[in-house]
Amino acid sequence: MPFNGSNGESRRSSMKVMLVGDSGDERTQLKAVLAGLVEPQLEIVEGEAATAANLSENASVPPDATLVIVNGNEEAALSFLQSQSLHSPRPTLLALLSARSPGLIKRALRFGADEILFIPLDPGEATRALLKVSEARWRTERREGGIVISVTSLVGGVGVTSLAANLALALESLHQRVALVDLDLQTGGLAVFLNLDPEVTIMPLVRLEHKLDSIQLESALTKHSSGVCLLAAPKRIEEGELVSDITVGTVLDLTRQLFDYVIVDCGDHVDENGVAAWERSDHLFYVLNQSIAAARSAWRFIDLFERLGLTTLEPRFVLDRYRPSHPLTEKAIESTLAKPIYARIPADDRTFETIEMKAQDLFQVAPSSAVARAMLDLAALVMPHTEQAALPETFISRLKSAFVTHQSR
Ligand SMILES: Nc1ncnc2c1ncn2[C@@H]1O[C@H](COP(=O)(O)OP(=O)(O)OP(=O)(O)O)[C@@H](O)[C@H]1O
Ligand SMILES: [Mg+2]
Repeated sequence: MPFNGSNGESRRSSMKVMLVGDSGDERTQLKAVLAGLVEPQLEIVEGEAATAANLSENASVPPDATLVIVNGNEEAALSFLQSQSLHSPRPTLLALLSARSPGLIKRALRFGADEILFIPLDPGEATRALLKVSEARWRTERREGGIVISVTSLVGGVGVTSLAANLALALESLHQRVALVDLDLQTGGLAVFLNLDPEVTIMPLVRLEHKLDSIQLESALTKHSSGVCLLAAPKRIEEGELVSDITVGTVLDLTRQLFDYVIVDCGDHVDENGVAAWERSDHLFYVLNQSIAAARSAWRFIDLFERLGLTTLEPRFVLDRYRPSHPLTEKAIESTLAKPIYARIPADDRTFETIEMKAQDLFQVAPSSAVARAMLDLAALVMPHTEQAALPETFISRLKSAFVTHQSR
């Protein structure tokens, strides 16, 4: 794994955390436990739920993690969690619960908590959870190349390929350099979705005897009219067998040096190649739709993912073909998974049919559709704040409209 063997000494010495809850003995005791942790060293600010939002907004350095005490005034704490979860960049949110009730845990997760801790706070547990946050932050700071985003599922046909491709197009429209890597080696759906007929694929990179260089990588890419570059799946199904996790690792490490974003279509099953991509990913989107089969598979995926031990990567669940009126509601899915839904892509058969029939992309066919807005919204969530600030004004307004959509849901 790329983050193994990392040298803790070279990292920034302290992280900033905000402790939110009613003032009193409980908060004082929690602060004392946090202050006593050997690692990570914390700079702690505290406040009440009603005023803490201003505290975090006005702070010159936003907190790396926000710990919310959900005890006593539960409603205020949960609505604070929810408001913070809609912020961009989104702080890591930890809920501190005094009761170990499944109902309360689910509520806290549904309102946006990334992690649950219990009161009285165990120093070992607190260390584990906060180190996870600081490791993730360190990886982002250390990253020399672009952001890698893997898109996956355990069910076929739920929208993995369209999410990967449309997110790439959204980021490209926001002036980012984007590469798409098709690791769904047997299906090769990205080329079809983008209406490309690649002459080159990943195969020459598999056969290389020497170290991969950027000229070889660039000559294996196919450029889409939007500017997005595709590293296509092999032409023949059986060739996919020759692509190993070592090739995937080498290719992604180099591709991220050349592009701002590398988006990987990992297909609908788990294999070593997918895991090699996840190990290098800053974001992992698991796609599901409103079906029992998809929800069950997502649950199995959570179980598997936990066993992989990729501690600094948190899978985010994206609901595609979302219909608010569907009998299997978003809330029911969240409660089955005990995980929040990170983003929803509305169902829009007409737009997707037009994309296919006209052989044009989403931003040519329906740039102001709800689907396009949802993609820009998701793009905004994966863009670091500094990159958003550097965007031209027209794109800023486009992003802002995406934020409005996100927040008004
Ligand atoms: N939000 C949406 N609304 C309507 N149709 C959609 C939506 N998202 C995807 N589709 C359509 O659903 C179909 C399956 O999508 P896609 O190929 O992206 O899924 P996949 O998970 O990659 O499938 P596979 O397992 O075959 O690789 C496509 O025809 C696509 O156009
Ligand atoms: Mg696909």
